[in-house]
Amino acid sequence: MLTLATALSLGLLAASATAQSGTGTLFNFIPGLGACGFTNTSDQFVALVSSKTFHSFPGSGANPNTNPICTHNLTVSFNGKNVSAQIVDLGLDAPDDNVGFSPAAFEQFAPPVQGIVQNVIWTID
Ligand SMILES: *[C@@H]1O[C@H](CO)[C@@H](O)[C@H](O)[C@H]1NC(C)=O
Ligand SMILES: *[C@@H]1O[C@H](CO)[C@@H](O)[C@H](O)[C@H]1NC(C)=O
Ligand SMILES: *[C@@H]1O[C@H](CO)[C@@H](O)[C@H](O)[C@H]1NC(C)=O
Repeated sequence: MLTLATALSLGLLAASATAQSGTGTLFNFIPGLGACGFTNTSDQFVALVSSKTFHSFPGSGANPNTNPICTHNLTVSFNGKNVSAQIVDLGLDAPDDNVGFSPAAFEQFAPPVQGIVQNVIWTID
């Protein structure tokens, strides 16, 4: 029983350490060369997270190019719709719970000229 309980709690700890989510403002950004070292364009489904979210991701080190977050998607939920895009950058000035989508991904929720969508729920897959 103790072994099972220990294994279970370790599993739960591992799951909660990797699952990241929040509620914040989604903003539209124009991708280019990002912190992950990729060069992306506005027609691609790419995302950014705040500096804090980026650097607190498990496995994050000194080199942002090798941050494991760069292999994950950000899923944004709003009005019953989920849109996923690859995390490629961080927003240095972004408040901790804000996230960004490239125009192609952002326009699934609102016209990019609108700039922001408030109160979205996001998760890192
Ligand atoms: C972003 O750019 C990288 C490097 O060019 C590429 O491998 C990746 O597929 C791009 N992401 C998307 C969602 O197109
Ligand atoms: C959207 O994502 C949320 C949070 O990850 C999840 O609970 C929900 O089931 C998803 N909805 C759809 C329609 O995929
Ligand atoms: C990430 O999102 C893209 C675009 O929505 C999707 O094509 C891809 O399968 C997702 N990748 C993962 C690992 O979920």
